[in-house]
Amino acid sequence: MNDIAFLLNGTPVRVSADNPTRTLLDWLRETRGLKGTKEGCNEGDCGACTVMVTDGAGVRALNACILFLPQLHGKSVRTVEGLTGPSGQMHPVQEAMVEMHGSQCGFCTPGFVMSMAVAQLNGATDHDDNLAGNLCRCTGYAPIIRAAEAAAGQPVPDWVKDAPDAGAGPAPFAPATADELAEWYAAHPDATLIAGATDVGLWVTKELRDLPEVAFLHACSDIQTIEETDGGLRIGAGVTIAGLRKAISSSHPALAELLRRFASEQVRGAATIGGNIANGSPIGDTPPALIAMGATLHLRKGSARRDMPLEAFFLDYRKQDRARGEFVEAVTIPCTAPDLACYKLSKRFDQDISAVCGCFNVTREGGRVVAARIAFGGMAGIPKRAAAVEAALIGRDWSLATIEAALSAFASDFTPMTDMRASAAYRLEAAQNMLVRYFHESAGAVASVLEVQA
Ligand SMILES: Cc1cc2nc3c(=O)[nH]c(=O)nc-3n(C[C@H](O)[C@H](O)[C@H](O)COP(=O)(O)OP(=O)(O)OC[C@H]3O[C@@H](n4cnc5c(N)ncnc54)[C@H](O)[C@@H]3O)c2cc1C
Ligand code: FES
Ligand code: FES
Repeated sequence: MNDIAFLLNGTPVRVSADNPTRTLLDWLRETRGLKGTKEGCNEGDCGACTVMVTDGAGVRALNACILFLPQLHGKSVRTVEGLTGPSGQMHPVQEAMVEMHGSQCGFCTPGFVMSMAVAQLNGATDHDDNLAGNLCRCTGYAPIIRAAEAAAGQPVPDWVKDAPDAGAGPAPFAPATADELAEWYAAHPDATLIAGATDVGLWVTKELRDLPEVAFLHACSDIQTIEETDGGLRIGAGVTIAGLRKAISSSHPALAELLRRFASEQVRGAATIGGNIANGSPIGDTPPALIAMGATLHLRKGSARRDMPLEAFFLDYRKQDRARGEFVEAVTIPCTAPDLACYKLSKRFDQDISAVCGCFNVTREGGRVVAARIAFGGMAGIPKRAAAVEAALIGRDWSLATIEAALSAFASDFTPMTDMRASAAYRLEAAQNMLVRYFHESAGAVASVLEVQA
């Protein structure tokens, strides 16, 4: 087995691949003594462990606590210790944080400055969005945002312009193509596939699970593409949420806006669409939107492929129609979805899991409903279509009277549960209100909290 090789703050390092689920955070702190990268939550939520990662796809801020070392093979990693220049010069974001009083206890600060440095390098200026994955418990965010604004116009220092590690060689535990992956997984059907590790990472850091046999998907570049085909837009399973959001921002604005609310910059940069579908969570954000668009799922085992409507994949709570050794290769959606609207309801606007996620795709012609696809997350043990609600709309006038008459059908479609995110009654009423909102928005009313003016 090859070593894991990457550049750390500009210097080549090689690490034995004996423990493929060792996290970058543990390795930095315990082996390298690089303790500037902090551990806050150890589950991807707080951003204290943010590092800069450069590869062929560009420069990303990622959470080191849920990044396994093999995921870094052939890349370049920069930690807060590598943010200052060779003669100790501060990076512009560090100078701005001092100037704007952006730090008090300082625990969160290494993570913030790494996120800010990545945004500064990429010219990303939506600072609320860039920093939504970094939590600060004492300074308050206004001085930090002022610092990000001040740094945005400064030149990017040469010393943070990393290149991928060209001399790394073949990646350990990581098939290079979908064909290789298919062959290997069919022969090792009990192995765990790891794509972005934003779910699997927590199995290791929180549930302390051992994963005896793993394969990483990040080297399979042929499942990281988005292509227009006869059937629509085919999205490879390895496309990240950030990559998808960027690619479909003008063709599918409603989906892009939903993806903005998906976790944080650091999680979106790692998490994949395939992982979001395959984990089968009832509160995953992409399945309701994909089902509402009529997505087709492409599964593969060895050389055998099969396709199915995405909603047929989710059988029961955490049970999917996926055989041993079979993996998600891609998902196809229509090239546009002009009637789609997606509503994510969570306690916190950013970086929170949905209590209810409702996605609506109702087609009208001449004032009548001719087709309806409505799907929800958070309303059942699986992402699920609202078949009775759809039936109550199809063939009827698109009017408030029709909507009001359809509301009672929600109780036939769903028996939601009560948990820490929401009560059953709240979920049911929220889902009904989303349909009413969809109707009003279709008539031009403004309902988004981001747009409503007092
Ligand atoms: C802080 C935080 C916030 C989050 N917020 C959200 C959110 O707002 N919305 C949301 O929906 N999710 C959220 N998540 C969950 C997670 O980010 C998503 O489920 C993500 O899409 C998982 O993708 P991944 O590539 O990281 O999957 P991984 O963790 O690598 O894998 C997840 C599961 O899918 C399997 N798998 C991965 N790829 C394939 C494949 N191609 N074929 C077959 N099996 C595969 C793995 O074996 C594993 O069982 C959050 C997670 C964290 C840590
Ligand atoms: S320690 Fe909180 S995101 Fe990594
Ligand atoms: S400065 Fe103390 S947590 Fe942010």
